Amino acid sequence: MAGDNMPLLKHLSILFLFSTYVIGVLGGPSDVTSSPVTDVKHVYQFLVGHTDISYDTAFVYVSNGLEETINLSIQTTECYQCKLVLLGSMGVRGSVEVQVDTAWPVVMDISLEDQPVDNATVCRMTYHFKQNGNYSWYINNKKSMDSFDCKLIATNSPPNAFIPIYVTIGIFAAMAIFCILYKKMCNSGSINRFLNYLGMERVVSSDLGTPSNPVAEADSNSIQRPSRDKPKRLKSLDAFRGFSLVIMIFVNYGSGKYRSIFGHSPWNGLTVADLVFPWFIWIMGVSITMSFYALVRHGVSRRVIFTKILRRFVILFGLGIILDGGIDFSTFRVPGVLQRIAFSYLVVATVHLFAVKHKDEEYRIRHVVYRELRDLLDYWYEWIIMISFLALHICLTFFLPVPGCPTGYLGPGGPLVGENESLVNCTGGAANYIDKVILTYNHTYPRGTPRKIYQTTVPHDPEGILGTLTSIFMTFLGLQAGKIFHLFSYPRDRILRFLGWCVVTGVIAGALCGFSKEDGIIPVNKNLWSVSFILATASMAFFLLAIFYYLIDVQIWWTGVPFYFVGMNSIAVYCGSEVLGKYFPFCWEPVFNTHAELLAMNVIGASLWVLISYYMYAIDFFVKI
Ligand SMILES: *[C@@H]1O[C@H](CO)[C@@H](O)[C@H](O)[C@H]1NC(C)=O
Ligand SMILES: *[C@@H]1O[C@H](CO)[C@@H](O)[C@H](O)[C@H]1NC(C)=O
Ligand SMILES: *[C@@H]1O[C@H](CO)[C@@H](O)[C@H](O)[C@H]1NC(C)=O
Ligand SMILES: *[C@@H]1O[C@H](CO)[C@@H](O)[C@H](O)[C@H]1NC(C)=O
Ligand SMILES: *[C@@H]1O[C@H](CO)[C@@H](O)[C@H](O)[C@H]1NC(C)=O
Ligand SMILES: *[C@@H]1O[C@H](CO)[C@@H](O)[C@H](O)[C@H]1NC(C)=O
Repeated sequence: MAGDNMPLLKHLSILFLFSTYVIGVLGGPSDVTSSPVTDVKHVYQFLVGHTDISYDTAFVYVSNGLEETINLSIQTTECYQCKLVLLGSMGVRGSVEVQVDTAWPVVMDISLEDQPVDNATVCRMTYHFKQNGNYSWYINNKKSMDSFDCKLIATNSPPNAFIPIYVTIGIFAAMAIFCILYKKMCNSGSINRFLNYLGMERVVSSDLGTPSNPVAEADSNSIQRPSRDKPKRLKSLDAFRGFSLVIMIFVNYGSGKYRSIFGHSPWNGLTVADLVFPWFIWIMGVSITMSFYALVRHGVSRRVIFTKILRRFVILFGLGIILDGGIDFSTFRVPGVLQRIAFSYLVVATVHLFAVKHKDEEYRIRHVVYRELRDLLDYWYEWIIMISFLALHICLTFFLPVPGCPTGYLGPGGPLVGENESLVNCTGGAANYIDKVILTYNHTYPRGTPRKIYQTTVPHDPEGILGTLTSIFMTFLGLQAGKIFHLFSYPRDRILRFLGWCVVTGVIAGALCGFSKEDGIIPVNKNLWSVSFILATASMAFFLLAIFYYLIDVQIWWTGVPFYFVGMNSIAVYCGSEVLGKYFPFCWEPVFNTHAELLAMNVIGASLWVLISYYMYAIDFFVKI
């Protein structure tokens, strides 16, 4: 069945590789690099690692027109409540050039050198410099001597840094349209053959409902019994899993170095990069129910199922350790992405193994309220166990005393935050302390996302032990979606429940984080896997699954291609992408070091995995563990 699609895919991939190559080249070298500056004493750099990069950097030429020495300090707004960093002093009539980071706005401060620190500021500005911009900032006295005149002038007008993203989106949109038209032409409008052409058998089943036979009002009030047949594979689940995995690979490969959108948040916050791992864990939870009910239905004993769970846990955990750098006993990393997935799976699947029910007949005699809420009421003790994991997470986070740090501290620590030195080693509060005591820093992630911006010295593992409790709950929320699939047969019932969960988890998450990035009781934080973080991402996951389910399985407007292929082979693709990510053609030594080139590189890297997964699908190669 696959032979037919090969030419199309081949054309598309060549077209795609060519066009990304074109963006990479057209977006080529930018005019502004670190040209030698002759009349300026110093070039200071702030959060910019090299002088030879041309993304996310701008030059600010600061000129002192005062009869006094001034100090120049700077900080990025992304560093929440951080102290300004002193770059240096400028003598009378002196000037400096500062290479600043343009991913986020920066605060720049000029103060008189000999004044007491809290009364010295002459002027301060917060400005989002444009990438490759060149600015002059003149510090002068006003006519009236007491006040100062600070004027910022842009001396060039660089192009929008996001153009490569728009071009990429345009290319993909064009490819999608081309694909649709191509098939329309070859299949003269028959939806059935349209799907066959892609090698996808059509999902036609009574329990999914078909577009030509919408579910009648009366039906949804009658007793719905889960289908007794072998459950049909829901394509939307594979498509969702593939979708999050593709973004995950793109992000892991560098996401074009667009740190403010696609990079992980330095501490609190939610970026695209922060969404995909929880989504992946969540969809794993959904899948648990699918395999379970099939096994239970076939009378497989609990002991056998538990052995399967355990085996899967061991394989995933071992793979994770190997991918994280292998087993060097003094330094191997214990926590990690696959380890987190393995552990969440073990706990949720084991609990569910004892909770799973198979007495559908009971629903017939129960009250209507019971029938509508049976996905909750039948599993109340599972809920109690899972909520106690959540409660344990909250208690440890807020009440575990951490030596040398305030109890319940949730911040990034580091030398820039806090009144005095007291928070310097407090990165991540209790979560970090637990890892330090149980695993020691030799066996955790040696760096951590706050390192650069918050200048933290303490390592922080974003997949640490404490966060496992919330990822268990995240998996369980996915399991809830799986139960909805299992216990309710009609698309309307399922989608309404997904949307209900989307609202419930979204509102709780919003209340916890105060609908703000930094100010709530529990800010949204990927590094800690805070409660608001999992609820916010779960809310989006419920919403996205509702959409995927509607488009793919209910209306059959979309086959889930190309994400479907990736989702069918997620573990193989994830491991492959991790192992081969450093090698050509997934990655190469950047020539121009622009966003355009890096984006093209990372998009090609991620897309190659889509093609590879398609190939694996075409030759019927599926890695199951
Ligand atoms: C200005 O910088 C100098 C060191 O370069 C430092 O001694 C002085 O305290 C600073 N003054 C202010 C107001 O920050
Ligand atoms: C702050 O500086 C101004 C002039 O530079 C001076 O008049 C004022 O007394 C200073 N205030 C303090 C609290 O030092
Ligand atoms: C930026 O502009 C200043 C003054 O307008 C100029 O002296 C400097 O050479 C320029 N720098 C770059 C890197 O173009
Ligand atoms: C931690 O790692 C360092 C080398 O990276 C090693 O010297 C040290 O002995 C290790 N500590 C423990 C407790 O294994
Ligand atoms: C540092 O701050 C803590 C509370 O934030 C305070 O208890 C302590 O006295 C401060 N230490 C110094 C030396 O100012
Ligand atoms: C933080 O840790 C470093 C190294 O372990 C230590 O030298 C320093 O004194 C610690 N600082 C505080 C405030 O505890």
